[in-house]
Amino acid sequence: MADIAVFSIQNPDSISYFNQREAAEIDEILMGPVGFSIDQLMELAGLSVATSIAEVYKPGEYGRVLAICGPGNNGGDGLVAARHLYHFGYKPSICYPKRSDKPLYTGLVRQLESLPVPFLSVEDLPSDLSKDFDILVDAIFGFSFHGSPRPPFDDLVQKLACLHRSDQTRQKVPVIVYVDIPSGWHVEEGDVGGEGIKPDMLVSLTAPKLCAKRFSGPHHLLGGRFVPPSIADKYKLCLPPYPGTAMCVRIGKPPQVDISALRENYVSPALLEEQVEADPIDQFRKWFDDAVAAGLREPNAMALSTARKDAKPSSRMVLLKGVDKDGFVWYTNYESRKAHELTENPRASLLFYWDGLNRQVRVEGFVQKVSDKESDQYFHSRPPGSQIGAIVSKQSAVVPGRDFLYQQHKELVEKYSDGSLIPKPKCWEGYRLKPEYFEFWQGQQSRLHDRLRYFPQDVDGKQGWRIERLGFGTQTYKEA
Ligand SMILES: Cc1cc2nc3c(=O)[nH]c(=O)nc-3n(C[C@H](O)[C@H](O)[C@H](O)COP(=O)(O)O)c2cc1C
Repeated sequence: MADIAVFSIQNPDSISYFNQREAAEIDEILMGPVGFSIDQLMELAGLSVATSIAEVYKPGEYGRVLAICGPGNNGGDGLVAARHLYHFGYKPSICYPKRSDKPLYTGLVRQLESLPVPFLSVEDLPSDLSKDFDILVDAIFGFSFHGSPRPPFDDLVQKLACLHRSDQTRQKVPVIVYVDIPSGWHVEEGDVGGEGIKPDMLVSLTAPKLCAKRFSGPHHLLGGRFVPPSIADKYKLCLPPYPGTAMCVRIGKPPQVDISALRENYVSPALLEEQVEADPIDQFRKWFDDAVAAGLREPNAMALSTARKDAKPSSRMVLLKGVDKDGFVWYTNYESRKAHELTENPRASLLFYWDGLNRQVRVEGFVQKVSDKESDQYFHSRPPGSQIGAIVSKQSAVVPGRDFLYQQHKELVEKYSDGSLIPKPKCWEGYRLKPEYFEFWQGQQSRLHDRLRYFPQDVDGKQGWRIERLGFGTQTYKEA
């Protein structure tokens, strides 16, 4: 779930907001001429709600979910969301006091019971919801609701509103996620009495309703990726594009985060001395293969740090293009800043960070240029577009403007459009770092991270590697 991209819209006024009549009309069109069934729309809406929740609230920290479901379609969206949340690793419970006996709803209940997801009656609910739940999904009333909530929903809505008032006491309170409309809010005017729920997250469906303009919580997402472009054009709907395969897209301002409070609690297998490879290159290959198998993006991206003769350091990302017993290879421009620094001082360090696996690898050593033949071979193995890109500008040199680069690129594309050989520029070279130090780092819970370092040592006149465990906290650092 963490990989679902969220598109952030800086100006919420650039999106269409529906009034109650328009929301009903679009639903009728989707289920009429467009040909959707209610079951399909509910499934997609519920999936959007579940992916929105998973995008913002990770199951490790916000695992216990209570979905409070009303008697209509909005309640159905909540039931579907709870089923998906279960499969995403959450522990949902359902409060569904006024069950519909329509087959669509009885089916949703059976699906949840088979998982099993517990159903709690209103009487079963703890008086203080904050102790038992991390997330409350308010799927009670949708956009067609008007009037005042009737029992037992009036009390439930009050309970949710009270939770936010008790927020003042700084106790940990569950977050409230609302499906399409905050319960008790007017569809167009919002929280008229000013006493209602103040949700942390609003998941608008199809398009936000007018009341959403008054939503001031940190997370406003849009779900319901099913409006055909022809309908959007006909009704002049302005909706944000969904990136990639995402079922939700962030609308409204990006959340303000407290940088000091951002932290992950890593859960990983232990990294043990007796299980790692004796040779650090073999251990690196093993972890690199894991990163590839985990589908991580650009597992070969590494930070390269160099320093001038006067010890002033600099870092940048480069791509690893080969690794074997001789070292780590990358390609770059021989007139770039990094190249100048490597000429002055051939020591460098590489850092790989594989986020999805909670791993980093540090490699330090001496750098040499690879042979001309090796650079040449690699250059000509690249797609023509990348070859031309390497010729276009002097890396790290000041250029007159963006247009200048594009013009140069265009001219070169035309020049080589007949498929003739693109000559490797003299300054485009490969470098190889011969390692003399490694550290493998595996993030663990409560900051009890595993750190194993390798440094060369003579064993019976042969060069081997010594492996040592390093501390993770405030211990004093000792040079290898
Ligand atoms: C993910 C990623 C991969 C990169 N790979 C390379 C690379 O393989 N070679 C390269 O010269 N620049 C690469 N760059 C660009 C460099 O980070 C940097 O901007 C450029 O090499 C100039 O650095 P310098 O001025 O310190 O020499 C990459 C950038 C990113 C973000």
